[in-house]
Amino acid sequence: MVMFEAQGVRQETMRRDVYPRHGMMAAANHDELAAQKYFLGLRAYANGRLMAQAVEACNDQIVPQMGERDPENGKDRAEVLRKAEQLPIFQNWGALLRASQELMWDYVADTVDRQLDELEDKFRSIENPAGSLTLHPQLPNPEYLALVDQHIQPGGYLHDAGGEDVRAGAIYDRGAVLYGLGRAGGLNDMRGHTLCAFIQDAFGEMKPKRILDLGCGVGHGTLALTDLFPEAEVHAIDIGGAMLRYAHARAESLGKPVHFHQQDARRTLFDNESFDMVTSEILFHESSRTAMPAILKEARRVLKPGGAMCNLEVPLRYKGMDMGSVVVRDWQNYYNAEPFWGSLGTVDLEKAMADAGFKRIVKGFQPRTNNFAGERGRLTRQDPSGGMLSHWLVFGGHKE
Ligand SMILES: C[S@@+](CC[C@H](N)C(=O)[O-])C[C@H]1O[C@@H](n2cnc3c(N)ncnc32)[C@H](O)[C@@H]1O
Repeated sequence: MVMFEAQGVRQETMRRDVYPRHGMMAAANHDELAAQKYFLGLRAYANGRLMAQAVEACNDQIVPQMGERDPENGKDRAEVLRKAEQLPIFQNWGALLRASQELMWDYVADTVDRQLDELEDKFRSIENPAGSLTLHPQLPNPEYLALVDQHIQPGGYLHDAGGEDVRAGAIYDRGAVLYGLGRAGGLNDMRGHTLCAFIQDAFGEMKPKRILDLGCGVGHGTLALTDLFPEAEVHAIDIGGAMLRYAHARAESLGKPVHFHQQDARRTLFDNESFDMVTSEILFHESSRTAMPAILKEARRVLKPGGAMCNLEVPLRYKGMDMGSVVVRDWQNYYNAEPFWGSLGTVDLEKAMADAGFKRIVKGFQPRTNNFAGERGRLTRQDPSGGMLSHWLVFGGHKE
């Protein structure tokens, strides 16, 4: 398996992570595993060596012809991208990346669909749950989420056939193992542990009794919160019904008590001042420029005075980045269907939090960790890796 040994794939983690770690993860058989390992090699090559060459070609051959350009300015970036797209190396990188992403979902869907009936049976036969699931199938989908299938996942987050459908969640969970090139943590919970490390470093004095996790997906981050605060009542919301059914069954298979709800983070059904802490993990880079302030205001509304909001996000800040690196990101935002990275990459987060009414705002970069309770790095002001995911962007604030 030469391709699998490609640089960038975390070998040890991957060997463990391709196998199920909980009762709901769809298990790959021999041939599916071989195909998924092939994807990993292809992806590591496209996003490693080839992308570096595309960035360098853009910086060396296009940027000098174009005069002064600002990476934070969308029009400037679009003009550079239009030229860069004509470079053969850019086209090779882009075509390979897109093809590998499509392959990934094909491979993952093969694994999930082969055992979908069993997964639905597991959902159906949950007994004496420690948590709960409350669906509101009539809830309208936010228009910004319905625009595209995020990361070109077939059906996106929102596809829901009703009944016991868990497919969107099963695909997202198994896809996350592969998409993260084996670096997503044993339960795809590295980001959750990293958020917990941020909470310990910046909000360590807090002992929340009631927590709300926004845009929880299948609960990757939510479950880490139950470990940090075992005494707390943890609630989690998302829009996708099939994501939430899977999230509930997954949490129950791990014995984690979480109350999942189908709700819109821009206007939830919770009472004013009913939570001590509100959290999110990688929600805002998939929220539109108008959704973000609405979600922040809603978080503040449901927080009790003295409560805090704590968030983890993708670490890219366009300010100070070289134009080639920004332009390859913009290309992926479009062709990998993640249209709001650019908004998050350029928004002033401290101002956005302050505009929503938060005080004592903290922003920084948290070293990635799979174990917030173990040996780990501390919150820093700058990202020493320049967006290479050794650190994650974290920000939060208090309601006074
Ligand atoms: C990238 S996923 C992150 C999921 C999870 N937090 C994690 O770390 O894996 C973003 C999630 O936010 C959800 N989402 C986006 N906008 C939302 C909204 N307005 N209300 C509720 N959920 C939303 C999407 O459905 C999706 O599941």
